[in-house]
Formats: sequence, structure tokens, C-alpha cells
Amino acid sequence: MAIQPDLLHGLPMEPLVHLGAGAVVLRGFALPEAADLLVAVEAVAREAPFRHMVTPGGFTMSVAMTNCGEVGWITDRRGYRYDPIDPTTGRHWPTMPAVFSDLAKRAAAEAGFAGFMPDACLVNRYEPGARLSLHQDRNEQDLSAPIVSVSLGLPATFLFGGLQRSDRPRRVRLDSGDVAVWGGPTRLAFHGVDPLADGTHALTGRCRINLTFRRAACTPR
Ligand code: SIN
Ligand code: FE2
Repeated sequence: MAIQPDLLHGLPMEPLVHLGAGAVVLRGFALPEAADLLVAVEAVAREAPFRHMVTPGGFTMSVAMTNCGEVGWITDRRGYRYDPIDPTTGRHWPTMPAVFSDLAKRAAAEAGFAGFMPDACLVNRYEPGARLSLHQDRNEQDLSAPIVSVSLGLPATFLFGGLQRSDRPRRVRLDSGDVAVWGGPTRLAFHGVDPLADGTHALTGRCRINLTFRRAACTPR
């Protein structure tokens, strides 16, 4: 497989980074679709605007979020959960764009999870300083499906730990177009994102967008 040059640093870059059993970063996997993905993010956000949700503990999240798909991940004082209705608009979340689901399915297959059928996509927007503290994605009913996480815009430092919160996380830089996939033995790995460094990116301006695909419901449709 050809080694892609890291344009920022002039260093050779591994096309595939192993984070653990069933966990990889596919370097640049989403680059061909990056501009189309951003157009689709803007369309989703026109229907379901980005908002800063509140955790059950009463903290306002620094990451702004929206969703598309059959259900969306939300948090408020009552807890974390999936809901088919956007509490901000009172309407269903926007349909998942085909460019989203196609990419997520291909990335999952590339990482060894053929047959992934995402029904939810959480869209995260990080502005400089925004961070996501270590957490597990565990509100989904179907934990046999992986998480597929697409990075667009400004780079971030991704923390990928183990199954215990106390396991020291690995730190890996995620650039625009990188896709992280984790599932199987690492499906419930703790993960997070360091505070975003300031900068501007040709695609997104002064932010990072992350698309996180899940199979939230296990009932066949
Ligand atoms: C998440 O854990 O939902 C997002 C991870 C990321 O922004 O890379
Ligand atoms: Fe997560």
C-alpha cells in the first residue's frame, strides 16, 4: 500500500493506525468526500441547528451538537439517551444523507465490520478550546456494531483508552479526512478529545466537525 505524505510535516504517514483490537484510524479515508460531507452537514444544521447540550450533572458541553438519522443522541438534566425527536425543533431529526451512510459503511467494512447499518449520526462541532472528556459510547442498544468517527477541518488530539476509565489513553492526531473505527473488543473503550487548538482550515474555517455513526437501535426495520 502506498505511503501517503503528511503534507503538514513532510513526514511519511501510516495509512492505517492500529489503536487496539478492532480499533483503527483510516488515514485520509474520507478525503475524496470531505467537501460533499461539509455541504451535507450544513444542510442538516439548517433543519436541526447545532446546540450546546447540558449534561445530567448540569454542565453545558463545550462541543456543539446536532444529529441526523432515525434517532439522535441527546443529553439534558434527565440523562443521556437517543430520541427520534429533536427537542430543539420538536421535529424528527433530518434524514441521514446518503453521502454520510455510504462513507460510514465503507469505512466500517475496511476496518473489518462488514454489514454496518448506521441509524444515527451525531454531528459534533468543536471551536477552539472545545473538548470532550473521556467517556464510553454506551447508550446504543446494538453494541455488536462498531463506532465510525469521521474528522473534518481543524486537527484534534484523540484520546483512546481502555475499558477502564483509569487506563492511560493513547493520543493520536486526527486530521481532516481521517476515519476512526472501533468495535468488537474495544467497542466500549473510553475515548475523548483534547481542547481544540486555534487555527483555520480551508474546509471548515475555525472549527473541527466530527461525524460519529452508530447503530443505536437493534430492532430490524
Ligand atoms: C465522540 O466521541 O462522540 C466524538 C469523538 C471525536 O470528536 O473525534
Ligand atoms: Fe464518543
